Amino acid sequence: MYHEGEKFTVLTCYDACFAAFLENAGIDVLLVGDSLGNVLQGKETTLSVSLGEMLYHTRCVSAGSNKAFIMADMPFGTFQESPEQAFGNASKLLAAGAQMVKIEGGRIMSETIRFLTQRGIPVCAHIGLTPQSVHQFGGYKIQGKSDSEAKQLVEDALFLEKAGANMLLMELVPATLAKGITNELSIPTIGIGAGANCSAQVLVLHDMLGLNLERNTRFVKNFMVGASNIEEAIKNYIDEVKIGKFPGSEHEF
Ligand code: KIV
Repeated sequence: MYHEGEKFTVLTCYDACFAAFLENAGIDVLLVGDSLGNVLQGKETTLSVSLGEMLYHTRCVSAGSNKAFIMADMPFGTFQESPEQAFGNASKLLAAGAQMVKIEGGRIMSETIRFLTQRGIPVCAHIGLTPQSVHQFGGYKIQGKSDSEAKQLVEDALFLEKAGANMLLMELVPATLAKGITNELSIPTIGIGAGANCSAQVLVLHDMLGLNLERNTRFVKNFMVGASNIEEAIKNYIDEVKIGKFPGSEHEF
């Protein structure tokens, strides 16, 4: 789809029921996100999500899915120590049904991403606001606002692509910066709070269904507004992403 210039759609998914429902509605990628710590477990951060929990939810999503591409987050503390540690844990996520793992972090993760991708594990790198580093950022804040931060993010993206990353997710970065990075790279970019000019968009399922009102911020749209049921809301999300209507300027930074 990327090579044909078609935007693809991603939503978080944590169980078999929604996996079947979302892929039948036409969602291309199911992200078993560690946001399950927030939305399912009610935690303030994603930091306590364990590999065991990620494996359980990846198995559930895989059991409900026939055709969607499944990406699973590597939770905090399961990949930062060494490339070998990352490989051991990523391979368990693939055995549980994931087709790609997502790793938070900039160029510091290059060596690990090279190690995994050279050994058959597809990786999506995640930069910008990386929720596992929330305490270092001092909150869930937009990243890449200053010239030096923006330059660092562009360099990170190039490092990660060179290391073998197959996709790049950008969270909470200015739309112009995300557009520039997307144009620089030859791998697909996925945006969340990163404007309309990424190759794909992702939202947390519960946010876009209006179920998680506390977490909702500027970049989230409640697709249940104006929809008569969940299927219509999901289909509206797909249509709006594909034609570049979502995210609109009111959802960007
Ligand atoms: O865990 C997650 O759901 C994510 C998205 C916010 C991109 O990483």
